[in-house]
Amino acid sequence: MGAEIHGTQKFNESKRTEIKFSEEAMATAKLLMSNYPQGKEKSAIIPILHIAQAEFGGWLSPEAMDYVAEILNIRPIEVFEVASFYTMFHLKPVGKCVFEVCQTSSCWLNGAEDIVKHIEKKLGIRVGETTADGMFTLKVAECLGSCGTAPMLQCGASYHENLTFEKVDRLIADYRTENKQKNYTDLDYKNTL
Ligand code: FES
Repeated sequence: MGAEIHGTQKFNESKRTEIKFSEEAMATAKLLMSNYPQGKEKSAIIPILHIAQAEFGGWLSPEAMDYVAEILNIRPIEVFEVASFYTMFHLKPVGKCVFEVCQTSSCWLNGAEDIVKHIEKKLGIRVGETTADGMFTLKVAECLGSCGTAPMLQCGASYHENLTFEKVDRLIADYRTENKQKNYTDLDYKNTL
């Protein structure tokens, strides 16, 4: 089954046997699937991938995608097609906090490029890289729908808007102190700035 997934990571049969949702995650996945008619449960794939990403260390390994395929009763390649299309799904290990800095028009005009450079300098990484302590990954993204509060970045479910260098520094310090994986499924929806 897993051999159908053509990612940058190799499928590992023994890791696959370790992959399993918690009871709570499985109950949520089943609830999501029940929103669709019998045979159309794969329509729940995006929220279930979010759950999988949160459950399995913040990224989707080939084994995790294979597991999601099994739950949805579809082929692993169908899961990979969706997971590889959306930038919010990570197909290789990432830091606990993934900073996605918007680089589209409004943010770009309001200094997104300088914000990215500042984060790169502050964390000692380039876009696409993760800090050695596994705490931060830096990415850029296209418009995140918060153009009126540019420049902005997303980290998990939280938006951080009207960014300045000082706000970015504070955000990094706060996340370091919290030392917690940030997911799109987080319910503590709050803008800390
Ligand atoms: S341009 Fe950055 S949120 Fe729209």
